[in-house]
Amino acid sequence: MGKSYNVAVVGATGAVGIEMMETLEKRNFPVSNLKLLASARSVGKTFKFHGKDIAVEELTPESFKGVDIALFSAGGSISKEYAKYCVDAGAVMIDNSSAFRMDPDVPLVVPEVNGEDVFKHKGIIANPNCTTAIMCVVVYPLHKAKKLKRMVASTYQAASGGGAKAMQELLDQTRAVLEGKEPEVKVMAQQIAFNLFPHIDVFQENGYTKEEMKMVNETRKIMHLPDVQISCTCVRVPVLRAHSESLNLEFENPITPAEAREILEKSPGVEVMDDVANKVYPMPILATRKYDVLAGRIRQDVSRTDGKGLDIFVSGDQLLKGAALNAVQIAEVLISKEQ
Ligand code: A2P
Repeated sequence: MGKSYNVAVVGATGAVGIEMMETLEKRNFPVSNLKLLASARSVGKTFKFHGKDIAVEELTPESFKGVDIALFSAGGSISKEYAKYCVDAGAVMIDNSSAFRMDPDVPLVVPEVNGEDVFKHKGIIANPNCTTAIMCVVVYPLHKAKKLKRMVASTYQAASGGGAKAMQELLDQTRAVLEGKEPEVKVMAQQIAFNLFPHIDVFQENGYTKEEMKMVNETRKIMHLPDVQISCTCVRVPVLRAHSESLNLEFENPITPAEAREILEKSPGVEVMDDVANKVYPMPILATRKYDVLAGRIRQDVSRTDGKGLDIFVSGDQLLKGAALNAVQIAEVLISKEQ
């Protein structure tokens, strides 16, 4: 029998927190004790874990006593405020927020890409932005074979990226529109029902949003490619929980769609779904609740004649590979040498 661990989930009542709990259970992570932490508002709620009811506790500076691993998904300001208490108590923090991702002392990890970086941690390990994690799983194996030079990405991001409240807002607005009522915009930047908008996170001085620049900077860090050229447009679409991305990739070396399919078929975390004659290609409804990222519509970029360009469409569950699953996979790597 391997060792087991005291695990805490911070933000346990949130869209990602709930998936973290379920993923720990489904993947049989060796948990000796699970602590569920949220705000005072959630005290009194309980969740089932391996058949046992666990009560939600209020997050306080003392919450981390005896905890070995803490999975955080309660937003950047909570991560920044509680990191010190977590690390001082001796727990390793796996943080889903953007608070520490670009900190040079904090590894930023997609286990299929740079799992070894986990072992460089000094108490905190960051989980990447959801769109970045989903893309990296597909692009990294192609990069390993053909060397990525440039990528242009357009995203189709689900409401789940904005948390449980944003998912509810999509449902409420859709119902309101269907009932002929004025949809209420509360947590998202614009009306999302029967609409889409190119505005996720805040605008930067260079005209990109913060979400778009996360894709640029986090990809460079995860893939250890500080100079790779990336441009991205992030769009929120009226989908509940899986993100899709259209990727235009340029490599140093020529690559054919058949080669790309062969590489991706052997790549962990990827499922090739590419049979257009039978209408088979990635879609958010197919990616929902799946661990693997779906890749399809793989084709040669017709705008170039050198055979070095590919277009790919991907869909991945934002709450799983884009968040909870990746965090639990990081924890699995972390304990792998002790099992
Ligand atoms: P709560 O439900 O008690 O507000 P989402 O991203 O889906 O909106 O989830 C956010 C998560 O972060 C929830 O679990 C939420 O708990 C938690 N959270 C928000 N603010 C705090 C806080 N001040 N202290 C602890 N947890 C918080």
